[in-house]
Amino acid sequence: TASHSDALVFFGATGDLAYKQIFPALQAMIRHGHLNLPIIGVAKSGLTVHQLRERARDSIQNSGTFDAGAFARLSAQLIYIDGDYQDDATYAQIRSALGQSVRPLYYLAIPPSMFEPVTLGLAKSGGTKNARVIVEKPFGRDLASAQALNQMLHTAFEEDAIFRIDHYLGKEAVENLLYFRFSNTFVEPIWHRDYVASVQITMAEKFGVQGRGAFYEEVGAIRDVVQNHMLQVMALLTMEMPIADIDNHTGDAPVSPFGAWQEAGKNTAQDAIRDEKCRVLSAMRPLLLTDLVRGQFQGYRDEPGVASDSQVETFAALKLHIDNPRWQDVPFYIRAGKQLPVTCTEIVVELKPPPSTLFDKTGAEHPNYFLFRLSPDFLIALGTRTKLPGEAMVGMATPLIAHRQPGQEMTPYERLLGDALQGNSALFTRGDMVEAAWRVVDPVLNTVTISTGQTKTMPVISYAPGTWGPEAAEQIMDTNDGWHNPALKDTPP
Ligand code: BG6
Repeated sequence: TASHSDALVFFGATGDLAYKQIFPALQAMIRHGHLNLPIIGVAKSGLTVHQLRERARDSIQNSGTFDAGAFARLSAQLIYIDGDYQDDATYAQIRSALGQSVRPLYYLAIPPSMFEPVTLGLAKSGGTKNARVIVEKPFGRDLASAQALNQMLHTAFEEDAIFRIDHYLGKEAVENLLYFRFSNTFVEPIWHRDYVASVQITMAEKFGVQGRGAFYEEVGAIRDVVQNHMLQVMALLTMEMPIADIDNHTGDAPVSPFGAWQEAGKNTAQDAIRDEKCRVLSAMRPLLLTDLVRGQFQGYRDEPGVASDSQVETFAALKLHIDNPRWQDVPFYIRAGKQLPVTCTEIVVELKPPPSTLFDKTGAEHPNYFLFRLSPDFLIALGTRTKLPGEAMVGMATPLIAHRQPGQEMTPYERLLGDALQGNSALFTRGDMVEAAWRVVDPVLNTVTISTGQTKTMPVISYAPGTWGPEAAEQIMDTNDGWHNPALKDTPP
């Protein structure tokens, strides 16, 4: 079984991600007794270790989770190396700071353009032997660049030592999708094309690009959240049941009933899940231009770092299909955008109406559904029909709230960093999986060649902040029901 990493080296120690997510996660891990090893921050900033500690304190205080005892231990464990990522001397310093460590974990919390110099610098200095690496998003910007990035990483690390992070997979509510599906008798028998009419996933954000204009210009909504977060959620909703005992997948060692396979390195519980996700991602039909609407909120072009004629989408609505026996012909609608009316991520799995309309005809117009809210809080509801009190046999919509939870026990970063330190990759994106996901959106990225041989991009349609994006998003729907707009206030308690 995998052994625990014995040192954490994180590149980008003075960056935005370290400030917002990594330091609070490190302190939480220390507080929970999960991080007793040297922590080496690396960056080129001119800061001293003392200044880095102060920055860490500030970051954790800002996150509202400051704990004096845990922070003191974090400070004591924290080492800082100030160096250029292109300079061999930086890697020599890291090597010596690592001391007796035999299994370091490197965390590349840096811009993608730095992945290669850092990986090669580590490899050249002999630092990649037995090591693990966490790679931050964005992982490539299309299929070809993701393949190139995989190849580059594989020159220095084995696949099972590479942890491609997608923080959505560390969310409690996202893990619950898998648990809910495969732990309840009544779900799987209807979880296919005979009973499911359509599936919608909406990731709405009420805010804009929050000062990240320059970053956002390079990505846009499809690359930023659809290729990764949304497709991962869709894979969890649609994959076949993994063949393994996965109840201990965040424990010390993965448990598989196929002990011999596991020893032979052929299958582990973590790969059982990833195999199935990869399979269903590979069955998703590459997106057609006609099944995509791109939008841009009014005012985006005035953001710092954004071009005055930017064509980058801050909203995307798309229709996908899965070409396999379970999901053939079921439309999957995904919508993600900034400056929408609420911040909320919801999934609606709409079921087909019952065969008879014995009672009121409205039953068929208001079918049963499953609703999963993934954020800001978490709930699972089952939309049913019950009789309206009174003489007539007419019904009303009655959502049964199955489960509601205000928040999460640990942040995604705490969970995922802990998993990576243990060598548990179940919640990380495998190389073939990331390529399968890029394959789905690749045809609509960049420019496309139209029949005349010219190239053009899909136009972006502007929308007013605080609306549900361009009206054209309605037109990719097959039914008249339209999009289900999450409305936090109206949800029954
Ligand atoms: C990030 C995107 O990956 O996910 C952001 O880059 C987005 O644009 C964020 O806002 C949403 O994640 P969460 O966990 O805050 O809902």
